[in-house]
Order: sequence, then structure tokens, then C-alpha cells
Amino acid sequence: MRTITKDTITDVFMGYFGPDTDPRLREIMQSLAHHLHAFVRETGLTHAEWEKGIEFLEWAGRISGPERHEFVLLSDVLGVSSLVDMVNSRPEGTSSSVLGPFHISGAPAIAYGSDLKRHYDGPVLLAEGTVRRSDGTPIAGATINVWQTAPNGLYASQDPEQDTYSFHGIQTTGADGRYAFTTVKPVSYTVPTDGPVGEILNATGRHPWRPSHLHYIVKADGYRSLVTEVFPDDDPYLDEDTVFGVRDDLVMTYTEHPADTFPDGFELSGKVTEPYLRVDFDLVLTPE
Ligand code: BEZ
Ligand code: FE
Repeated sequence: MRTITKDTITDVFMGYFGPDTDPRLREIMQSLAHHLHAFVRETGLTHAEWEKGIEFLEWAGRISGPERHEFVLLSDVLGVSSLVDMVNSRPEGTSSSVLGPFHISGAPAIAYGSDLKRHYDGPVLLAEGTVRRSDGTPIAGATINVWQTAPNGLYASQDPEQDTYSFHGIQTTGADGRYAFTTVKPVSYTVPTDGPVGEILNATGRHPWRPSHLHYIVKADGYRSLVTEVFPDDDPYLDEDTVFGVRDDLVMTYTEHPADTFPDGFELSGKVTEPYLRVDFDLVLTPE
């Protein structure tokens, strides 16, 4: 076809694939073109708007690097990351939730009962639970990678004041599938607003807050890996997470307990002098 019009360009694009194109790649590219072309037609996108969009993406590229993932953040605030989680979720397992742009690999191994809070101010939170199957069978040898911000709302990778792996650790379950560690009660925090994503949030009248949470990546042989978060039920941002990460089964109550009931067998045993919080969160994996 030599004459391309706004009504035929999508069909012409669909014919531009080589015969050996991977079928899944073809499906994704064709659907992407279908929706992108429809978006341009529907909005009557102007040249100036197209240019602004390109400049936005170029800015996101320039600002990104090993420790800043602006495209992940863009996907998060557009709801795309959460939608990918939801279309891939299995109802019998714990819901997955956003990984976010601040996860770093190489966190140290931590023993059962270890403490991540160290010298930081704030209430002690004892987080524990069982890694198990949906029928209750515990999963031994599962690794639980946990991370959160310091009380200043910054992850170690964002904050030169913190050690490289502060508030990060990887625990391995024993035969009973149990995990437990202490940390500081997580705080609500804002996603970075000093780049293009912040500019879009501001221009569209959106706030940048996330409800407080603990992040988990759980892995075990023969099971699907789980990337998730747990949120306390009293956080003011629970119903307006700027990255759409909250699911009903990820919202838990932090219960308060007197200091003298703090259990034995923990790094902080005998050292807790104020009331502490406790959350019991089972991580339910589904077979691969
Ligand atoms: C996070 O929870 O670490 C996060 C998720 C999405 C965007 C920014 C931060
Ligand atoms: Fe986070």
C-alpha cells in the first residue's frame, strides 16, 4: 500500500513483521501499536505535545543509572507495575506487590531473630510469620529478602548517611518455615519528586506518598518467587498509595505489647525497655 492515511497506518504496521518474528513479540508489538495509534488519534496529539513527551522520556533516561530507575518509577505511578502484578497473580498465594526502584542485591544473610533497627530511633517492630503452601504446609529452605527505609523515609541506596545494606537482610527458613526479625516501625514516605516523574505528579495534582511498608522477596525451590509488601492497617495513605501497591491480604495489624513480654531467642532479647509492636504475616507460595 503506497498511500498511508491515519485510518490505515495501524493495519500497514501490522503487516511489517518478518516471517520469523517470535509470536509473543509479534503479539505484544501489534497490541502496543494498536493502543498507541489509537491514543494519538483519540487525543489529536499535537507536534508540541509529542515533543514534550519525547523530552520527558529523554529526561527519564538521563536521570536513570544503577541507583536511580526513573522508568520503573514512571511505570509505578502510571499503575502499570501494579497491573502487571495483578494480571499475573495466583489467587491461592499471597498477593504480589511492586518491587519499586530501590531494591538492591547483595544484602547480607541474617539469622532468625536478628535485628535491623540497630541505633535508629523509633518503636521496635517484631515481624514474624511462616513461609508456607496454601494448605498450611511449611516451606523449609525458603529465602526471605527484606528491606525498608530508615526512619527518615530514605532507602540505604538513596541516603549517604546509611550503611550500604542498612535495613536489608536475607533470612532462610528452617523446617518449620518460620521467619522472624526486629526492625524499626516503617514510616510513610514520598517517592522521589526531583525528576520527570515528580514533575508529572505535580502537574496532575497528585501527591507522592506511599503508605509505610516492609518489602519482601521470597524464593524457594519449586515455587514461584513472590515480591510483596506488608502494610499496617492504620496508615493514612493506605487508600491512596501513589503506586497502587496495596491489596487487602497485605494489610496487617501491628499489635502493641509491654516490653517485659518481649520473647527470648532474639538479638534484642533483654534489651527492649519500651512497648514494642508485633506483626504476624504468613507468606504463601504457589508451586511453580
Ligand atoms: C518502594 O516501595 O520502594 C517504591 C515503590 C514504587 C515507587 C517508589 C518506591
Ligand atoms: Fe518501599
